[in-house]
Amino acid sequence: SETKRIRLAVIPGDGIGTEVVEAGLRIINHLAEASNGKFEFESDFFPWGCEYYLEHGKMMEEGGVERLRGYDAIYFGAVGFPGVPDHVSLWGLRLAICQGFDQWANIRPIEFLPGVPRRLNHPDVDSLNWVLIRENSEGEYSGIGGRNFSGRGLGKEVAVQSALFTEHGCERIIRYAFDLARTRKRKKVTSITKSNAQQYGMVLWDEVFSRVSKDYPDVETDQWLVDAAAAQFVLKPEELEVVVASNLFADILSDLGSALAGSLGLAASANINPEGNTPSMFESVHGSAPDIAGQGISNPIGAIGSAALMLDHLGLNEEAELINKAIAETTRQGILTRDLGGTYNTDEITDSIIENLSKVK
Ligand code: NAI
Ligand code: MG
Repeated sequence: SETKRIRLAVIPGDGIGTEVVEAGLRIINHLAEASNGKFEFESDFFPWGCEYYLEHGKMMEEGGVERLRGYDAIYFGAVGFPGVPDHVSLWGLRLAICQGFDQWANIRPIEFLPGVPRRLNHPDVDSLNWVLIRENSEGEYSGIGGRNFSGRGLGKEVAVQSALFTEHGCERIIRYAFDLARTRKRKKVTSITKSNAQQYGMVLWDEVFSRVSKDYPDVETDQWLVDAAAAQFVLKPEELEVVVASNLFADILSDLGSALAGSLGLAASANINPEGNTPSMFESVHGSAPDIAGQGISNPIGAIGSAALMLDHLGLNEEAELINKAIAETTRQGILTRDLGGTYNTDEITDSIIENLSKVK
């Protein structure tokens, strides 16, 4: 049969982004070599990020997003480093790609892996897992606002930051969550807003949620205000299955969820353009971690799990499952990085996962 050829755009970015992306690519290359010609990968590297910015005054080259359009997927590290303001680095690269390619669904599974010390004290902690669906195109990250209106002068500056909620944007992400819920054992969607205080955008979200839910009578629903939802993540996580929330809220809750599962370094994510018009982008949830960058001790599991989400998206479902099994086998064996209380470094974790790929087959 014919070899499936996959063209990847790789953007390692800054800090530990470069380390964890290298780890993920080692896993993918290993699988491709072991696939007996089932599939091949070709990776093009784009050296964009904060170093690029310091040299060129921008985070990526002119027309950079367009250069990525022809690829099958984008594999992304992390962006941000001291010396470049975080809002410049984030907007100049990651958000430019997510919004430029209308990757409106950000999928963030929360997995409780075996052998990992939990931050969460819960009787059924080993069987917990849920998935956060983050609205990824508007909301609080619409970039609408401004500063320095009408020269109010020193000490009297004013800033406005608005959130954009469209019926179309709410509807597509909420439907995505319901469709995903139908594929899971427990069919349930929890919607998170703050409609008591955010009386326009989030009330619209709630109305759309209620309307869309009528098309899915087989799916259970639940609704929480975000403050109470944060408590629920800790106190009643067994109630969570598919959780859908706005850009900002889901961003915050995904860090909480992954910390409860052990570490920010474990969390994988996919920025999906569900229509398939543009390439989707796969990245660990964490940032560039300047505090540990360059030491080779970062946890690569979030990035490797993101590679699994990418293979799954590209139709290599068996290979994706193999990666997830191999990750779980490595943590079960107690082969852990420092953020999880272990002593292994990035390369050793990656070696172990590669070794376990053939073991779990
Ligand atoms: P961060 O996620 O980089 O780090 C938070 C803490 O978690 C740090 O103590 C770090 O050492 C630890 N950590 C994160 N990932 C880890 C891993 N794989 N292994 C072991 N420990 C890990 O968040 P922070 O410190 O708020 O932001 C640092 C920079 O990253 C900033 O410039 C920020 O703007 C950027 N950032 C970029 C993101 C992206 O590219 N998607 C997402 C979040 C932050
Ligand atoms: Mg985040």
